[in-house]
Amino acid sequence: MDLPGATISKHVYGHFAEHLGRCIYGGFWVGEDSDVPNEGGIRLDVVEALKALDIPNLRWPGGCFADTYHWRDGVGPREQRPTMVNSHWGDVVEDNSFGTHEFMALCELLGTDPYVSANVGSGTVREAAEWIEYLTRADESPMAQLRRSHGREEPWRVPFWGLGNEPWGCGGGMGAGAYAELARQYGTYSLDHGDNHLYRIAAGAADADYPWTEVLMQNLGRYLGVGEVSGHGKNTYQAISFHHYTVVGPTWENKGSATDFDTDEYYRTMVKAAEIERIIAGHANVMDAYDPDRLVGLVLDEWGTWFDVEPGTNPGFLFQQNTLRDALVASVHFDAFHRHADRLVMANIAQTVNVLQAMLLTDGDALVLTPSYHVFEMNKGHQGAAVLPLTVRGEAPVHDVDGTALPTFSGSASVRDGHVLVSLSNLDATAPLTVEVDVRGSAVGAPTGRLLTAGSLTAHNTATDTAVQVRDLDDVSVEDGVLRVTLPAHSFATVRFAVDA
Ligand code: AHR
Repeated sequence: MDLPGATISKHVYGHFAEHLGRCIYGGFWVGEDSDVPNEGGIRLDVVEALKALDIPNLRWPGGCFADTYHWRDGVGPREQRPTMVNSHWGDVVEDNSFGTHEFMALCELLGTDPYVSANVGSGTVREAAEWIEYLTRADESPMAQLRRSHGREEPWRVPFWGLGNEPWGCGGGMGAGAYAELARQYGTYSLDHGDNHLYRIAAGAADADYPWTEVLMQNLGRYLGVGEVSGHGKNTYQAISFHHYTVVGPTWENKGSATDFDTDEYYRTMVKAAEIERIIAGHANVMDAYDPDRLVGLVLDEWGTWFDVEPGTNPGFLFQQNTLRDALVASVHFDAFHRHADRLVMANIAQTVNVLQAMLLTDGDALVLTPSYHVFEMNKGHQGAAVLPLTVRGEAPVHDVDGTALPTFSGSASVRDGHVLVSLSNLDATAPLTVEVDVRGSAVGAPTGRLLTAGSLTAHNTATDTAVQVRDLDDVSVEDGVLRVTLPAHSFATVRFAVDA
């Protein structure tokens, strides 16, 4: 309590919605004529569920899709919008019925900040610059007038602007140097209009590709006054992203089932999930060498589990179920995000609805809250809170996973508005764990606890069976300033209590 750390950016609880499978179409968007209750075509059950998470930002339109997307195809009367082929995801025809106005309306309904990814891979600098003008300019400029002709008088606020996506792969197959040049060029023409200030995010590394991050740092130019390139510094980029998925394998072609796995596979998944700590630290170390004052943000704008698609579904749609295992993957990630609050400014789960490690699954007019959803909800009190160091005294419990010692306890804590929130995960598949937290430096109020667990690690929710839900945690007490919590096997818990100011 007497050693509060950096503020946990609320944006590490960010989201991601791509034109991929049933994320947008069927997930967020059903169209105005649907029987599913909607506002202007946007599903209201999805909006209501996500509002309970306080989602801070939503990334759109991709992903790989972003580098094929031409925004002018998605504005104006819907019946006149051209179609296109979604070449990355299922090779299906996209009718562009969900475009800029629909996305911004969704953000307004959610009360969330838009994070728009520009097309760097197959678009033009002019196209990107005009999109910003269309979105954010108030006067009689050509793009502001075009926006008005499509029914929106006032500009929107767009705080986050992505300069492409995975340029080393689907975003153009470039090397780091070539992309850095492009990022500087796109950044230069990504203008602030009026009082809208863009936080430009350069597309970054895959996993532990630290050299990629280093090249982007060297290309920041005058923004930092470091690096080898001079130039119009303020409009280059203010943050660098990277992507990291939890993939168990054994191969990319066989990533394993989302629901049908044994205990060994579960532990291997948790070893993979725990790697996020080392990878964030690796990118942060490279950035520290160029930017000791931590002016440049690190953004993990895609993370989550990636398993085989559900049998019988389109392989290009990346639809997977979500079990208690996914929830524990999420809780371990958040602990790492909190510990790196001094550098990690944003993270985006991939993806919010019906794709990969989803918060929500839709089944016709039914809506399913996944176990991962509950972790986001239980942890939302960490958003904007000051991180508190949580150190394990003595020997931490571990499980041997093919020679790797996996710590089976994970936790983090933060303080905000006179309340402490502690998140605790017991990753052991079979044994309960009693944790004693010695809360240093303050008197501790009566704790309340919440628990997420189920009879098995493969437990998941469907439209007809809610096997994984949050319940009160009874086994929590405070004695002489020490918090005592007993966690069942394979469980996640949060404990909240008041402290002296
Ligand atoms: O989230 C699915 C895909 O994974 C994204 O489109 C891409 O950026 C990444 O490879």
